[in-house]
Amino acid sequence: MATVNPTLKQSADLSAGDTDLNRRVLTLIGSFRLIVAAAMLLVAVLQTDPIFLGGRYPLLFITTACVYCLGSMTIALVLRGEQAHTRQLAWLQLVVDIACITLIVHASGGIGSGLEALLVVFVVASAMTLSARSSYFAAAIAALAVLLEQTPDRLYAARLASPLVLGRGDGENFIASDIPAILSYTRSMLFLEDGEIAELSAEGIRIENATGETVQRQPKNITWSAAMAEKEGYKHFMLKEINEQPRAITDTLRGRISLEHGDVTLDEVPLLTPEAIAGIRRILIIACGTSYHAGLVGRLWIEKFSGIPAEVDLGSEFRYRDPLLSPDTLVVSISQSGETADTLAAVKTAKEEGCKVLSICNVVDSSIARTSDGVLYTHAGPEIGVASTKAFTTQLTALYLLALAMGKATGGLSTQELAIKVDALAKVPGLVEHALHSDAAIRDVAERYYRASDFLYLGRWLNYPIALEGALKLKEISYIHAEGYPAGEMKHGPIALIDEHMPVVVIAPRDKVYEKIVSNLQEAKARHAVVIAVGEEGDNELREHAEEFIPMPACSEESLTPLLTVVPLQMLSYHIADIKGTDVDQPRNLAKSVTVE
Ligand code: F6R
Repeated sequence: MATVNPTLKQSADLSAGDTDLNRRVLTLIGSFRLIVAAAMLLVAVLQTDPIFLGGRYPLLFITTACVYCLGSMTIALVLRGEQAHTRQLAWLQLVVDIACITLIVHASGGIGSGLEALLVVFVVASAMTLSARSSYFAAAIAALAVLLEQTPDRLYAARLASPLVLGRGDGENFIASDIPAILSYTRSMLFLEDGEIAELSAEGIRIENATGETVQRQPKNITWSAAMAEKEGYKHFMLKEINEQPRAITDTLRGRISLEHGDVTLDEVPLLTPEAIAGIRRILIIACGTSYHAGLVGRLWIEKFSGIPAEVDLGSEFRYRDPLLSPDTLVVSISQSGETADTLAAVKTAKEEGCKVLSICNVVDSSIARTSDGVLYTHAGPEIGVASTKAFTTQLTALYLLALAMGKATGGLSTQELAIKVDALAKVPGLVEHALHSDAAIRDVAERYYRASDFLYLGRWLNYPIALEGALKLKEISYIHAEGYPAGEMKHGPIALIDEHMPVVVIAPRDKVYEKIVSNLQEAKARHAVVIAVGEEGDNELREHAEEFIPMPACSEESLTPLLTVVPLQMLSYHIADIKGTDVDQPRNLAKSVTVE
């Protein structure tokens, strides 16, 4: 039996006639439009039409030809799998369409004879229909599964830009948008590439590329178990995933650190051998959302341990700033899903500029993983809750390993320093486990503040990105407005917001900026803020300064505190959302994989 999983992403308005549209049809339409555009230009230039042109309409034909050209460009971009500019082009087409009508009305001094009016209506209508049509394709082509009435024992699937997974079962095969959806049926999976079409029957799977050639592809064995994609008694996936963090971090460390030798080895990735690292002069980290916050922390670790300059950019901004790249820049992309359109596009841009790309990714064989030169996998297991939790802490773990490996290769860390850090890192899963014990106390805090309409999160240095992450977690699942801020910046603006109704979450582990952040806390208190402090167990000074105190375990390595401070913030968001009764796992307007720009 061939099965389509109900979670498959379908393009919203595909009618029966549209389902068999594929690349060849698009190519045909694109070519047709180019020919029409060329013909119109020729007519305009030669002015051969004495009846209708009369010297007044060449501009109309030139403009219409432009509309057709833009349509072809849109289609060409869609066919290349680049959705980057298609929407802008579609809008541009509309603007040109409107300009076209204005010109016509102007040129004809009001529409004159019936024949002229007919010509005008025909040309404009056909241009607008075709431009709308190509915009429609641009939006609609994503990932499709088609069942034809004539062949009910067969399923057809096509992929362009959005992920599509094929599962191989015993006497049955599957199509899904994501691995977890079919994990309980099979772990043997194939991944379609852009432009490929698959035919599934109970007996087998056949894949063809855009030119109709058969593609031979071996299935991958996914190591995630079906149970991993179930709630296993937890009320929500997010809660389960928060609690899975000790295991997920351990899995991400496994085989990469040696306690015996106080060492870290990432030789599984050829880009990260000591010799390869020696050639790196600059690191550029690219990611979106929560993964971007992980990148902000990772940057500080990399610079501190290795001395290699590092910067971080958002996938959605990177391409538009004319990035200065050189082959000795290592681009590090971070993505849980490996399908985020903005991050993927940034990776492609970096590769076009000749940079090597290392990805930190959770999903094996995802688009970003396949496009990169090397992948450092996080082993978080499937993350189903839309709000990222265990993916974040495993990304931090992978980045810490990367920073240590770089510090070792550049000599930024001595053998002894490396051993101390490796030892502290190995203790993190146990400390995270310990942090989870504050659950009941955090629920109490949530009960007291879930009605607040705004929260401010303050952190400094390594915990400034954690303030951003805490605020993001709260707003995405509880719909409460929250802002993360570097605590030192508070006095440059946000302090004006503070009053007795504003809970201010202050992240204050005992690190090198502890005194500074305690003084920021006092500034907030002086403005009557309700301070919720996240600090180390036994920190009575902090407890006295704050209305609420959420304890976290102390860590021997101050650089590792982000892995611990983020856990209570995840729990605080979870409990606030749960008390408010929002949809924790699937918050409104959000998707787990953001495959559109
Ligand atoms: C927030 C969240 C998102 C993702 C972002 C990037 O909880 O999950 O902000 O982090 O959409 O997704 P990935 O990591 O899959 O590229």
